[in-house]
Amino acid sequence: MARPRPDAQLEGIERFRRQVLSHPLAEGIDPEEVRDHLGKVPRERFPLVVYARRATTPYVQPRGGFPLFEAQCELTRQLSEAGADFIPLTIDSYTRHNQYETATQLLRRSEEEGRNYLNGYPLVSHGHELTREMYRGLAKPVSLRHGTPDARLLSEVAIASGIAEIEGGGICYCLPYSEGFPLDRSLLYWQYVDRVCAVNSTPDAPIHRESFGPLTATLVPPAIAVAIEIIEALLAAEQGVMSFAVSFGQTGSLVQDVATARVLRRLSRHYLDKFGFGSLRCYLVYHQWMGAFPQQRAKAAALIAGSALVAGMVGADKIVVKTVDEALGVPRPEVNAEAVETVQYVMRIFGCAESITSILVDREADLIASEVESILKAVFALSGGAFWESVFRAFQLGYLDVPFSPHADNANKLISMRDGNSSVRIAQRGNVPISDQDAAREQALLASRGDRSDKTYRQLLSDINLMV
Ligand code: 5AD
Repeated sequence: MARPRPDAQLEGIERFRRQVLSHPLAEGIDPEEVRDHLGKVPRERFPLVVYARRATTPYVQPRGGFPLFEAQCELTRQLSEAGADFIPLTIDSYTRHNQYETATQLLRRSEEEGRNYLNGYPLVSHGHELTREMYRGLAKPVSLRHGTPDARLLSEVAIASGIAEIEGGGICYCLPYSEGFPLDRSLLYWQYVDRVCAVNSTPDAPIHRESFGPLTATLVPPAIAVAIEIIEALLAAEQGVMSFAVSFGQTGSLVQDVATARVLRRLSRHYLDKFGFGSLRCYLVYHQWMGAFPQQRAKAAALIAGSALVAGMVGADKIVVKTVDEALGVPRPEVNAEAVETVQYVMRIFGCAESITSILVDREADLIASEVESILKAVFALSGGAFWESVFRAFQLGYLDVPFSPHADNANKLISMRDGNSSVRIAQRGNVPISDQDAAREQALLASRGDRSDKTYRQLLSDINLMV
């Protein structure tokens, strides 16, 4: 039986770090100097400091990355002026896949031709010294957004640049994005990232980690997302991370969003405390709709405004926003800044200080919590020398099963569908160890869909394309 343990920290981190930092693109990164630099940046760079001051409305964070340094500086300025509370640094796809040479070549070509040949900022190619310049004097957290199973070098460069929030995790940045990157390797590489975050942290100024709960953003039942978020929080806690955010994506059902937020917040705290991580600060992040977006800008704007309202109702600490260009491509800075303003506006005029309660939300929350508890109990009971090994086993056995994951280690036996309320239901549980009673409850709720519950391909597409 392998449960999370406070003394499970990656051994020999110094040796692994020397190896990672010996990469030519890591030249000039000196761990001592980096800690020194982190001691000198404004305290507001650290999410924990900012979260501690939050009033009632959630903080707002856009996404955004351009290849050219000047363009990224300009984006940073525009987003900050528009009222973004967290500044994004979205990384290009080549860097996410550790193809640094290609990223560097395309960066040079972008510079020469003044065109964007990359879909984000190639941080490793630009390096930490230049990137530090971008953030000189900035008193807001910068959030690294990527999707990288092996983010060891990327995280080192990010932290050396003064970036104190690293998104991702061994499960959430592997299963939804990759077919062939071995899950066990991803889990180990993320242990490295978590450990490096921990060794660069002080109690007042910790490097913050955030998990990516939307996963494939396609009909993921809340219980699966919540269980995975709790596991990633525990894996990070094992490595000494002190500040962490769990997250989930808008489900498409108001009832399910409010219920998921409640369960995710409560059970993350519960399991962290239970395994001896009571001092880890844990926050809740809500992602605006991560599925297929409408192409018409008016509809996209309505969706963005609507989900800003929901973010207030679920009582998130932060909302990650989309733009009206989501279905069309990488948004221009003005379009991105406009989304930040829209979301700030909606949350101000529809502020929601008290959480919404209803019998429907209570029932949904009870069901999700019961399912999560069954799943986690089964994962904790699996054999393995360390907790991450039990997690890996859980995927092999299909105890954890993410719908629409392209990954070879994912079972793909769980089938989900929407009910009459648009909530995501578990139609077939596969090997996911929820109780017979909860499985029956899912079926009963699915029956509420009435006539529409035919299992045709067309029906599935309309479930996926709910917002289009
Ligand atoms: N700029 C802005 N947003 C981006 N996204 C990805 N890359 C960029 C970028 N360079 C956003 C999109 C995408 C999500 C995962 O991240 O909204 O759907």
